[in-house]
Amino acid sequence: MADKAPAELPENVPQHIAIIMDGNGRWAQSRGLPRLAGHRAGTENLRRIIKACVEFGVKYLTIYAFSTENWGRPEDEVSGLMGIFDEVFERELAELDKQGVQLHHIGRLENLRDSLREKMLAGIEKTKNNDRLVLNVAFNYGGRDEVIHAVQQLVKDGVDPDEITEELLSGYMYTKGVPDPDLVIRTSGEQRISNFLIWQSAYSEWIFPETFWPDFGREELLAAIQDYGRRERRYGLVLES
Ligand code: IPE
Ligand code: IPE
Ligand code: MG
Repeated sequence: MADKAPAELPENVPQHIAIIMDGNGRWAQSRGLPRLAGHRAGTENLRRIIKACVEFGVKYLTIYAFSTENWGRPEDEVSGLMGIFDEVFERELAELDKQGVQLHHIGRLENLRDSLREKMLAGIEKTKNNDRLVLNVAFNYGGRDEVIHAVQQLVKDGVDPDEITEELLSGYMYTKGVPDPDLVIRTSGEQRISNFLIWQSAYSEWIFPETFWPDFGREELLAAIQDYGRRERRYGLVLES
């Protein structure tokens, strides 16, 4: 049986929340710690946020874990991050499965190291029948890369140009079958999209909390959901008063 939702939740809880988990490095630096300590704290925090999403009845959570541009960071940060992801997968998969999380990946798996790619694929397979929360991990993901990938596939499939519609193109994105995000949260005070879900977030609501990602907990998520609950989504229309 589903847990009882907290009373402070609005009626219109976003069905799909996407998060740009930003500020790990600054979180660490502000404590005199190496940046990788911030990435570790960030992955710990993810566990709390996944749990809160299940509690709040969110159905889809998309997290930006590593962008196509992040490969350009210093070698030791990139390899440290890959090591952390490898470890986290190993450690968290059973718990995610127990919570009813269905794991998906968006982005390119092909140029990841073998151990990581294999763990990701095994995790997707293991959790495919879970239905409490779909967790889309954007890993080696870029929005422009996704559009290029979609167009390449369209051309390979020999699609007639006159047949191309928004629905058809959506079906060629990595997020195929997942509704567009209702709410996108970017932590750490930065206010930009950084190549995240550029197609899917056309009509998403955005929230930019100042909190660094490792400190963005259940209460902050609840506050973001409440803020969302007060908004009026107009989609370019004029709503009747
Ligand atoms: C986000 O935190 C995590 C990744 C990009 C992997 P950052 O590492 O960007 O942290 P800041 O923005 O430097 O504080
Ligand atoms: C976006 O954050 C990518 C992830 C959170 C994984 P960045 O920290 O890489 O973005 P910029 O460089 O500040 O735009
Ligand atoms: Mg950053």
